[in-house]
Amino acid sequence: MQRGLFITFEGADGCGKTTQIELLDKYLRAAGRDTLLTREPGSRGLGEKLREILLNYDGEVSPTAESFLFLADRAQHVDCIIKPALKEGKIILCDRHTDSTVAYQGYGRELDITQINYLNNIATGGLKPDLTIVFDIDVETSLARVGKNKDRMESAGIDFFNRVRHGYLDIARKEPDRVKVIDSSDTIENIHKKVLELVNCL
Ligand code: TYD
Repeated sequence: MQRGLFITFEGADGCGKTTQIELLDKYLRAAGRDTLLTREPGSRGLGEKLREILLNYDGEVSPTAESFLFLADRAQHVDCIIKPALKEGKIILCDRHTDSTVAYQGYGRELDITQINYLNNIATGGLKPDLTIVFDIDVETSLARVGKNKDRMESAGIDFFNRVRHGYLDIARKEPDRVKVIDSSDTIENIHKKVLELVNCL
């Protein structure tokens, strides 16, 4: 059996990562690989309930409480879905993971990054992605793509999203072996080619 792989996809809202994950999934399946396409927050079961709160709850949510909800979703996701699938040798394509909490709650909400890293490590039991691709896009373009129908997170404002973008670029600078940045202003086809180059190096 081929070794399982864990690949995560990151970037601001509207960066085009979902399209790219779907294209990669199609490519890998056509090549006979067994994939699992999943996401955070909310893959299934308990995660779906947490996603509903995180994206749509309209009362006050403190940044710390928000972080713990994302982390609870992550712990459930890693234990019940990601680790079993890795054991089966699957290639896991995960739309958002630990770096979202660093970028959004750490840089965006300005919580302590060292503490977020520590909590992420507890939530994942130390599991690290084999590869993380950050789709980088300027904030004006990403917010324009999201449009007027914004969820709770997407309503956070331009300064927040500037910090999130800076956060992702910082993460990539700190962990260049794991985290690769792709310029998301390119065409869908060119971005797909760059994704394949990265995945084929694994
Ligand atoms: P989603 O609709 O999945 O957005 P996208 O299609 O852009 O991935 O919503 C997830 C939102 O939750 C998104 O705004 C990013 C945010 N988020 C965090 O703030 N922290 C996290 O740890 C995760 C996983 C997501």
